[in-house]
Amino acid sequence: MEIIVKDTVEEMSKTAARAVARILNAKPNAVLGLATGSTPLGLYKELVRLHKEEGLDFSQVTTFNLDEYVGLTQNHPQSYHYFMHENLFKRINIPKQNIYIPSGTTDNYEAFCAWYELRIRQCGGIDLQLLGIGSDGHIAFNEPASSLGSRTRIKTLARQTIEDNARFFDTLDQVPIYAITMGVGTILEAGKIILLANGKKKAAAVAAAIEGPVTSMVTASALQLHRDVLYFVDREAASELKMLDYYEWIQAKMVDAP
Ligand code: PGA
Repeated sequence: MEIIVKDTVEEMSKTAARAVARILNAKPNAVLGLATGSTPLGLYKELVRLHKEEGLDFSQVTTFNLDEYVGLTQNHPQSYHYFMHENLFKRINIPKQNIYIPSGTTDNYEAFCAWYELRIRQCGGIDLQLLGIGSDGHIAFNEPASSLGSRTRIKTLARQTIEDNARFFDTLDQVPIYAITMGVGTILEAGKIILLANGKKKAAAVAAAIEGPVTSMVTASALQLHRDVLYFVDREAASELKMLDYYEWIQAKMVDAP
């Protein structure tokens, strides 16, 4: 794992966007796994700028989103379909048919989840997966006690997640209780993973994920089993890391590394 600490969210987002751009420049038809939430907003904004001002091309890119709320239609303002369209897809040149987002309104979730997994495989697998982290340590909606081998399926949201996400809804009762989400096992099959985290509220989860034991109680800790994970965190989210000095020392020395 590589842990890259930046002083501000803006710097964190821009550095992560450059890492994504490098991958797209090397492989223009890359398959990206995308995340929603407040955390990747700065990264998406920077990708849009790179597209508009520096010609970053998405015409051959395919995307698979991590999750969607069950019961929200695609044009519901809090659906992840809507989020992705507003914050990224309508601002870049990705073909509509290359965009995959789990359906929150299918009448057969089991069949849909199996099809989603199949489409990821048929597209050659995810080259780069972007992730945020929940304050309970979840990745996607893989809440505590999710199997570390889990695949795309329906999950019941944890109380903590419902409370965290209530800020986007008028009342707590409006937050959906169920979500359709890629599994931890699905995520671990990506070629490369970038996890972003910012703010004090994420510090404990980040420390548990990076320095704690691998446990289904903190599903982000499963990333310790993956061989190519980059953490981009701001100073607040890094504040509970015991080995922070070491990670920063590695980054400082990397330029001269053999
Ligand atoms: P957030 O959500 O980016 O809105 O904090 C992250 C997550 O729950 O994975």
